[in-house]
Amino acid sequence: MRHNLRGNDYLAFKDMTREEIEFVVDLSLDLKKKWVAREPHEYLRGQVWAALFEKSSTRTRNAFQRAAADLGITSIYLRPDELQSGRGEPLKDTARMFDRYYDGLFIRTFGHEIVEEYAQWMQHPVINGLTSLAHPTQGIADLMTIKEKKRDYPGLKICYAGNLYNVCYTTMIMCASFGMNLTVARPNGMEPEPIILQETMRRAAVSGAKINFTDNFDEALSGADIVYGMSHYSMGQPPEEVEQLKRAFAPYQVNSEAMRKAKPDAIFMHCLPAYRGIDVTDEVMESEQSMVWDQGENRMHSIKGILAAVAL
Ligand code: CP
Repeated sequence: MRHNLRGNDYLAFKDMTREEIEFVVDLSLDLKKKWVAREPHEYLRGQVWAALFEKSSTRTRNAFQRAAADLGITSIYLRPDELQSGRGEPLKDTARMFDRYYDGLFIRTFGHEIVEEYAQWMQHPVINGLTSLAHPTQGIADLMTIKEKKRDYPGLKICYAGNLYNVCYTTMIMCASFGMNLTVARPNGMEPEPIILQETMRRAAVSGAKINFTDNFDEALSGADIVYGMSHYSMGQPPEEVEQLKRAFAPYQVNSEAMRKAKPDAIFMHCLPAYRGIDVTDEVMESEQSMVWDQGENRMHSIKGILAAVAL
């Protein structure tokens, strides 16, 4: 089904229907076929996009720049310390100037309200390259990877082990939307944002997905088709919080023993960067079960799909 996302912002799965998410997954897979066949696909030739990264990035920044180049887009990389916003110019003034110069804004920032405010002040599309609440370009890449490796979504069991921030929230909405059963393994007392939990449960009631939280890693791993490892802490957290989280999450490291508790054909996924020896071992990262390189490549195809969906 064709969905008209043209001109839309792309901020978080919680704002999109299952069909809208799936449309972009399929579009990204089609664009991947063209990439593999080396077929030109400069559908957005002549467009110029700003790429503002307020936090560091390897995959998202490079995937965006390559995706933009393949689509014929000129991308202008912006650093916050080189903008007047770094000296106090209001966001709404910056946003309205970007809107006059660019065909769209790709942004990685801190609070989710920041991307929402850019979207409010810009007519051109705003794409979220990661905020506190959502990582939708990662979510599309993950759905592509699951479709490629496991074919059908409903009934799959995902064991997610790691911090309860943006990627976890995107995975929660994704599983609930597509009928995948998700068990989040984490120390007791760590709870997701209520707004995300509420939307997850609303969607799960429609799709039949089972969404659970447990401190019992073995229970989460049992029968898992996918073991999704994740950093135990997030970029920019104070050092004392990082140390506390490292201790609390130590029992949830994805190692070979943990992988043996999942299904024999289980795959390992991780959005990266992985902290080897902390959230995952070298052995698992380099194993046959590890899909992290294909998943990372899909970041580029997913961003291409999103750009094509909102800007073509
Ligand atoms: N997964 C991800 O967002 O990677 P980067 O932080 O390197 O962009």
